[in-house]
Amino acid sequence: MSDLAHFDVAGKRVFLRCDLNVPLKDGVIKDDGRIKASLPTIQTLLEKGASIVIAAHLGRPKGEAKPELSLSPVAKRLGELLGKEIIFPGAVFGDVVTSAAAALKPGQILLLENIRFSGAETSKEESERSQFAAELAKLADAYVGDGFGAVHRKHASVFDLPKLLPHVAGTLVAAEVEVLQKLTQNPERPYGVVLGGAKVSDKLGVIENLLGKVDVLAIGGGMVFTFLKAQGKEIGTSLVEDEMLDVVKSIIENAKEKAVKLVLPTDIVVAPSFSADATPTLVSADEIPADQMGLDIGPESAKAFAIEIEKCKTVFWNGPMGVFEFANFAAGTKTVATALTKVSGISVVGGGDSAAAVRALGFADSEFGYISTGGGASLEYLEGKELPGLQALGL
Ligand code: 3PG
Repeated sequence: MSDLAHFDVAGKRVFLRCDLNVPLKDGVIKDDGRIKASLPTIQTLLEKGASIVIAAHLGRPKGEAKPELSLSPVAKRLGELLGKEIIFPGAVFGDVVTSAAAALKPGQILLLENIRFSGAETSKEESERSQFAAELAKLADAYVGDGFGAVHRKHASVFDLPKLLPHVAGTLVAAEVEVLQKLTQNPERPYGVVLGGAKVSDKLGVIENLLGKVDVLAIGGGMVFTFLKAQGKEIGTSLVEDEMLDVVKSIIENAKEKAVKLVLPTDIVVAPSFSADATPTLVSADEIPADQMGLDIGPESAKAFAIEIEKCKTVFWNGPMGVFEFANFAAGTKTVATALTKVSGISVVGGGDSAAAVRALGFADSEFGYISTGGGASLEYLEGKELPGLQALGL
């Protein structure tokens, strides 16, 4: 298998797929972690004498050119971080792109507009994707796949295009895979996984797969109320997926059979509504009032989670414990993040949301073993699924 260090790109145009899907609010980038994580591969390619055509997506525009999902703010930030001009033709294809790509000189970078402005990128029709990939292939002589956050997507620029050009994984993808391999192949024990976020249905595959592999599984976030309801508890107006109750009951049973320590919260911070200024009240997980919703795990639960996490030698965490964007409901996520910083073995923060959460709460990336840039991608890897973007790169 070839790697970027041995990939000959001098004087060539390289098509580089990155994941620059950053959180934006009113055109302002809230967390530039994914842009920063893309820099090492870009710098390596420039040092090797390549010119680069970068493709990336932002949000889910579904084939429509939505101005609020333009990569223009990303082009600006990337230029600032690299200290160089980023040519941004403001289109995904067409003459303006073809001629800008043809005119690239070694050391120059062109960023295409949001690749998902073209519906062919995400099409379920293989022929439509292949045709689009063939057009993209004309822009470059080689392909580097470095958009780890999108490798679970069977999309034209992720899956179809690398088949048409000499290709290799970028340093980010290689690093992410190396870390995930540590979690899946003989992890040092105890091995704990902490899951949060809104929906059980998003995490079902990973929970089922991990039940046979982990020692501790701690669950918080919006999804925990489906667990509490499955245990027969009242959950007030909290988020719940009623259609998942039976599945959750069997997860609880399965955890028992496999001797996995399932850690659920014993206290909950509730409020009458989902808003930043809603009055928080701490209640027992057995006594959530009918007119209140759970918005964070309570301090007793957070402490119990932290104790379990700190005992582990391998920890993976995906999904906030509460509505961390509201100061009154951020404490659970902060306590879990702090515990991860104290793990003596390997601690991995997985996911766009969790990564953004730890940075928003003031943690430095260096306090964790590894912060993955992939949310869905790292979960699907842990589920044991084959990821199209990695398969296409021969990984
Ligand atoms: C992510 O944010 O997880 C990746 O950029 C993939 O985005 P997607 O879920 O819209 O495909």
